[in-house]
Amino acid sequence: MTSETLNTLDTSFKKEVYEGLTSSLKYLSSKYIYDKKGDKLFQDIMGMPSYYLTDCEYEIFSQQKVEIAALFETKGGFDLIELGAGDGKKTKVLLKHLVDNKSVFTYKPIDISQNAIDSLSVKLSEEIPNLAVDAEIGEYFEVLDRLKQLDARKKVIMVLGSNIGNLLHPRAIQFLTQLKDTMNQGDLLFMGFDQKKDPEIILDAYNDPEGITEAFNKNLLHRINTELGGNFNVDTFKHWEVYDPETGTAKSFLVSQKAQEVTIESINLTIAFKPWETIHTEISQKYDDEVVHWLAKESGLKIKTDFIDSKGYYKNYVFLK
Ligand code: AVI
Repeated sequence: MTSETLNTLDTSFKKEVYEGLTSSLKYLSSKYIYDKKGDKLFQDIMGMPSYYLTDCEYEIFSQQKVEIAALFETKGGFDLIELGAGDGKKTKVLLKHLVDNKSVFTYKPIDISQNAIDSLSVKLSEEIPNLAVDAEIGEYFEVLDRLKQLDARKKVIMVLGSNIGNLLHPRAIQFLTQLKDTMNQGDLLFMGFDQKKDPEIILDAYNDPEGITEAFNKNLLHRINTELGGNFNVDTFKHWEVYDPETGTAKSFLVSQKAQEVTIESINLTIAFKPWETIHTEISQKYDDEVVHWLAKESGLKIKTDFIDSKGYYKNYVFLK
């Protein structure tokens, strides 16, 4: 890399795009899918019946809210911190129940998207006017540091939607360990983990015939084009999903359907694609109890209990320090 190129890599987006596309097996991070358009596409994905994860977690909240609330509630009140709150659809069921129950708590939704936080705050004030909300914008890891200082009362940290599944196991352990480090004795971590199941059901969740997931995946290339001066011909790339039932890993790819060159002006980069060369864009890990227990052990957490949906597709685990 020349010093001229090095100087152009002045944001993590540029740096990671450069690293990923110059690697021998090309990759890009799925976190860069999410801009305004990516957020909207993800909302659409969550509304698809084939993307069962949302319905399963919603069912857990709807049908087991009494038991979940009982775990959270405590005399001195608590802070309910949700990382990656999004539109809060599933959490609202629990929040309503807690407010109706006169629980003493503050809801702290945290999301990287200003857009998501603004619309969630408006919706919550309309739908649950008595709810105490203290929203924050930021990346998970940056916010985690601030959470450490929240130690006046019990903390319940929620990470829903199997968001942890977008991390490889070593990164997931690092994330869980960092969460543990923000917790005190008695604090809880409530986290969703999509379970291993019929491989066909998993593939269908990431392969809708309407092409919503394809558009979501390709938003990465659109962002490189509009924000970094790229000239990807997005239509020449094919969305491809694979699921390995042995490891429980679903992987998304964008596959170049022909030999082509792509230039990304702002990072001084021209890359050649061979026909059928891949860009790996996302992993969506699926779990079983054995793996979740292993992750907990490696991160210094204990599993207190778990909640499962009626189909057995999805679980929310409750962790203690
Ligand atoms: C946010 N994350 C947990 C989703 C998932 O299932 O991996 C993102 C997604 N990718 C394709 N569809 C949904």
